[in-house]
Amino acid sequence: MSSTVAAGPRRIVVGVSGGIAAYKACHLIRYFTERGDSVQVVPTEAALNFVGAATFEALSGNPVSTTVFSAVDEVRHVRVGKDADLVVIAPATADLMARAAQGRADDLLTATLLTATCPVVFAPAMHTEMWNNPATQDNVATLRRHGHIVLEPAHGRLTGSDTGPGRLPEPEHIGFMADLAYERPDALTRDLEGRKFVISAGGTREALDPVRFLGNHSSGRQGYALADVAVHRGAEVTLVSCAVDRLPDPPGAKVHHVVSAVELAEAMRSYASDADVVVMAAAVADFRPTEISGSKLKKGQSSARLAHLELTENPDILQGLVQQRDGRGGAKPVIVGFAAETGDEDASPVDYAQRKLRKKGCDLLMCNDVSGGATFGAADNAGWLLTGGQQGGDITVTEVQHGSKRAVAAAIIDAVIPLLP
Ligand SMILES: Cc1cc2nc3c(=O)[nH]c(=O)nc-3n(C[C@H](O)[C@H](O)[C@H](O)COP(=O)(O)O)c2cc1C
Repeated sequence: MSSTVAAGPRRIVVGVSGGIAAYKACHLIRYFTERGDSVQVVPTEAALNFVGAATFEALSGNPVSTTVFSAVDEVRHVRVGKDADLVVIAPATADLMARAAQGRADDLLTATLLTATCPVVFAPAMHTEMWNNPATQDNVATLRRHGHIVLEPAHGRLTGSDTGPGRLPEPEHIGFMADLAYERPDALTRDLEGRKFVISAGGTREALDPVRFLGNHSSGRQGYALADVAVHRGAEVTLVSCAVDRLPDPPGAKVHHVVSAVELAEAMRSYASDADVVVMAAAVADFRPTEISGSKLKKGQSSARLAHLELTENPDILQGLVQQRDGRGGAKPVIVGFAAETGDEDASPVDYAQRKLRKKGCDLLMCNDVSGGATFGAADNAGWLLTGGQQGGDITVTEVQHGSKRAVAAAIIDAVIPLLP
């Protein structure tokens, strides 16, 4: 598999096989064309029973063929794969993955898979029974062994009224993961199999009354990106999610929703006890209203109370997790904290992060400079990773270059791996 990044528009092959979710491939094609990519759609014959060639041609701006016997003078069965910078198959049916795992070349899509040297991403979609079938699971394992990236299907409504794992992830999720596969193919290798991750994400909400709360700007995107990357590196992931802005559950992760800091603390404490890695990416409110009113506090009637809120300090979750681990005398879990810092005349964001690392005693700290509202809600991130500092020792600071939150997630996980016992 090559990891070279091409200059100019990326040449992306979107393979579509014959599943009910084929219509979602149209949104994926849009995802890429709107980013300026050149898209070649290669459907299977079965896919054209679900979406017509005219739709794929109009959306991609390129002719569509299912067979190696059209435009033979261009030797398409070899050229399409060789020319591609990235191949994404969505939906990938059980049948398509079986054929790909066997190395068949009985249509243009499977021939393309045999000649592609770029990253190849499969987004499977099928009924739960088909997905869980040992034959399919063997084919998935074979494709991964061959160096391909097979995404986890989402859990949710399937073709009929049934629900379960097997649903095609949202096109945006497939696009993000494909972008990461293109930027950093090694970021999705299966080096976390057998490891348990607990990740918190989003911002806590501290209720004041049934209508109002004290909150913060955290969107949850960085924590969700960490969950996505950890799942695709093979970890068993529990995501403890506070308030987030319309983010779909990361496919393949167990998601536990909480609202307040106290609920988050309780969930993290309990999941951390048998985890290998705990990541506290959530933004936790330092204080909560001492009293929660059962009915709406009215302006006028309750103005005095609203103007002078009495607050109680919330538990320090990160420090509590470190104490819980150290109290047991174990090396597990590796604990990762986040610091959203702003610099001032006294110190830089990294100086403040160093102080935080020494105070909390976690193993790794990701520091973001959030001056001017950067980071919150954005698709991209950057910052510094800090390690060391235990017992007054030196702290190592490594810059994390600006990139998508998934690329930053991959950099954080890369830094966790050497710390695993
Ligand atoms: C209505 C309908 C929906 C289907 N949905 C799926 C699906 O979501 N996933 C799947 O693996 N197969 C699905 N199939 C079965 C495939 O279409 C069938 O296995 C076909 O041979 C796949 O061919 P292909 O892999 O060459 O595209 C569906 C069939 C029908 C009739």
